[in-house]
Amino acid sequence: MAEDDKPRITSITDVDSLVSNTSDSTLSDRVAYLNPFERRFWDSSLPHRHLLHIKDLYRTHPAVDRQFKQRRDLHLDALQSQTPSIVHLRAFEKAFSEINRAYGGCFGGGQIKRFLDLGCSPGGFSTWLMKSNGGAHGVGITLPEEDAGFPLSIDPTLCASAGYQVQYRDIIQMVRESVTVDGNPTILPRDDSPNSDEPTAFDLVVAGAFRTLQGHTRWWYRMQLSFSQLLIVLSNTAQGGSCVFALSTKPFLWIVDTIGVMRQCFESVTAHKGGKLHAVRTFRYLVCRGFHASAEELALITGRIRVAMKFLEDVAESDAQRWSPEDVPLLSGQSASEIFEAQHQFVLELLEPLWEAQFQAIRASFANILASENGGEHSQLMT
Ligand SMILES: C[S@@+](CC[C@H](N)C(=O)[O-])C[C@H]1O[C@@H](n2cnc3c(N)ncnc32)[C@H](O)[C@@H]1O
Repeated sequence: MAEDDKPRITSITDVDSLVSNTSDSTLSDRVAYLNPFERRFWDSSLPHRHLLHIKDLYRTHPAVDRQFKQRRDLHLDALQSQTPSIVHLRAFEKAFSEINRAYGGCFGGGQIKRFLDLGCSPGGFSTWLMKSNGGAHGVGITLPEEDAGFPLSIDPTLCASAGYQVQYRDIIQMVRESVTVDGNPTILPRDDSPNSDEPTAFDLVVAGAFRTLQGHTRWWYRMQLSFSQLLIVLSNTAQGGSCVFALSTKPFLWIVDTIGVMRQCFESVTAHKGGKLHAVRTFRYLVCRGFHASAEELALITGRIRVAMKFLEDVAESDAQRWSPEDVPLLSGQSASEIFEAQHQFVLELLEPLWEAQFQAIRASFANILASENGGEHSQLMT
């Protein structure tokens, strides 16, 4: 739709009427962007259609754009001033405590003896895990300070008393090194017995690395970061252990395929939005418990992840315009339509509550921004 043809939005009432108007022409514009796999999810879910619609209106509204630029500048100023990101650390610590509460306290009270935290800075998740599991040994991996969006800000006394070890490494680079020699990345916990050849796996692997404040991320980089973390999760989680895995809520083929792989390897796969922290973002944590994959299953799946990683490496080094995410080899070994048939019911049950929650959060934020610019109704949930 041309810029001049766009409906003028000055109040949340305008937004509500556009979202509920299913004959709105922006909807046909939106459908044109979906591939056949995504189109099947679009057709199956009204909450998903409503969410995509409000996201388009929100993202392209000039008042929202102004507000996001202001917020981004504030974050960047805070980082330039070298002040430790305590506010962010506390926000992530609170988010983990909410995840723990939602699952009946399964990650605290000394139940976690060893944990691995990928993308650990500023350190909220690790802080919560150390405080709630006295004596737990933790390993955190995060980008070197100069590349990281947030510097690591965990209380040094807590790290010392828990024997917390931080490795400043790029996770993709780390996995690339193993994939080139057809191996899986193994991370040694700190209390590994020097006499044992077998590394001890982790009770909990948190895969929470994602790019922050760095502008647009290319699709193949996003997939490389997710698949690298998935390979680390599958190669380092103890039998019976858990993982908390950051993943987009978009029903893209590779995301639904990843969920299918998680279902094959864990007894239960659920999702948590992570509280207010990520309310308006297209983001959730998959909470997977009861790791039970056999050695044969793992060899098969990790082999496929390595194939996909090598493919993505070629994409990153070549004329990436030639490729799309649908060209990347799938991890389950199934076709797109087999994946849809096997997973769509589960994925809809998993994601619809999150799509509805994100819709409400975006609507509330939109209402506030429009009211600040034009006057009118402030945040109120749609019934
Ligand atoms: C939003 S933060 C995670 C917050 C963290 N879970 C906490 O509890 O404080 C995302 C982190 O991922 C890290 N990260 C992003 N890409 C990475 C990569 N390729 N390798 C290692 N860490 C990465 C960033 O440095 C950042 O610290």
